[in-house]
Amino acid sequence: DKDGHRHFMAKEIHEQPEVIAHTISRYVDPVAKTVHLPKGSFDFARLDRLTISACGTAYYAGLVSKYWFEKWARLPIEIDVASELRYRDVPWTANGGALFISQSGETADTLAALREARANGQQIATVVNVPESSIARESDIIFPMAAGPEIGVASTKAFTCQLVSLACIAIAAGRARGVLSVQEEQDLVSGLLELPRLVTEALKQSDHIETIARDIAKATGVFYIGRGVSYPMALEGALKLKEISYIHAEGYASGELKHGPIALIDENLPIAVIAPMDAHFEKTISNMQEVMARDGKALLISCKDGIAKAGAKAWATIETPKTHPMLSPIIYAVPVQLLAYFTATTKGTDVDQPRNLAKSVTVE
Ligand code: BG6
Repeated sequence: DKDGHRHFMAKEIHEQPEVIAHTISRYVDPVAKTVHLPKGSFDFARLDRLTISACGTAYYAGLVSKYWFEKWARLPIEIDVASELRYRDVPWTANGGALFISQSGETADTLAALREARANGQQIATVVNVPESSIARESDIIFPMAAGPEIGVASTKAFTCQLVSLACIAIAAGRARGVLSVQEEQDLVSGLLELPRLVTEALKQSDHIETIARDIAKATGVFYIGRGVSYPMALEGALKLKEISYIHAEGYASGELKHGPIALIDENLPIAVIAPMDAHFEKTISNMQEVMARDGKALLISCKDGIAKAGAKAWATIETPKTHPMLSPIIYAVPVQLLAYFTATTKGTDVDQPRNLAKSVTVE
């Protein structure tokens, strides 16, 4: 049942305020403003490294969480896509933990990487949407993501719920390792509790994004750039667009653009700039200006102040609500999803069942 929407993907994008609130409620005490993990979770104070692995969109959620674990918990992170991690000769550590992320819990590559980590003495945890899945069954610790069933092949609400779960795990790790103060934990939890309202706010840009998507649909290629936690969002934005609109798209770390990809910029290449007003804002904007100086069409995605500061000469802008700077991916996921969705509907591609893709891939 699409609940009045044209596609499951649209329904799932619009469900996000509700499912994000639900996921938060699984981890957060809203009165004390503290995070609680399921019993028997990692002993974070003892962990010497956390290895994170997944595929596709779930991998990008993991990549965002690397920034969180490093900043909030000072925990060394190893991260790779499951299909590579599985075959690498990883020098596993004695007190290592491994964290896998999967919506379906059935992805063969992720399961193989999990078994490799277990064979090497790592304690195994998963962030998983389907509690009775193969990956859940083979895990020591299960972190629920509580997104509800996701039908659209391109992951949307599962991604934001993965991010919420991972943020909570990283905050708990930060407390256990004595890095986050009580006040810092409370500030982050306050930021989390605001997310359902801010995601609702972000969804209001839907009509505006549909207009922009009509131009994007004519492009033969699109770039996405971002820095810090927005770098994985650039990768996710490009993946989403490729998956459902079949337009060639690439995500880059903003700073890498000048080391090669900028050669491709001309007046026909739209470039989405994911630029929340965090510590990296100025640098990312100067990368955007490099693009504009070469006639690239910059689409600036930022908050009201960010657009006022840097949006004047951009080809187009999308406004997002202001959020805790480290939690911005959970908000910026919305315009990124809507842009892919409306580009695909403009082109008339099969949004829920894109060609060549399956919801869960059970071969390696
Ligand atoms: C892919 C799907 O093949 O599997 C992606 O098309 C998904 O959308 C990836 O992100 C991982 O799936 P899962 O179920 O392990 O999260």
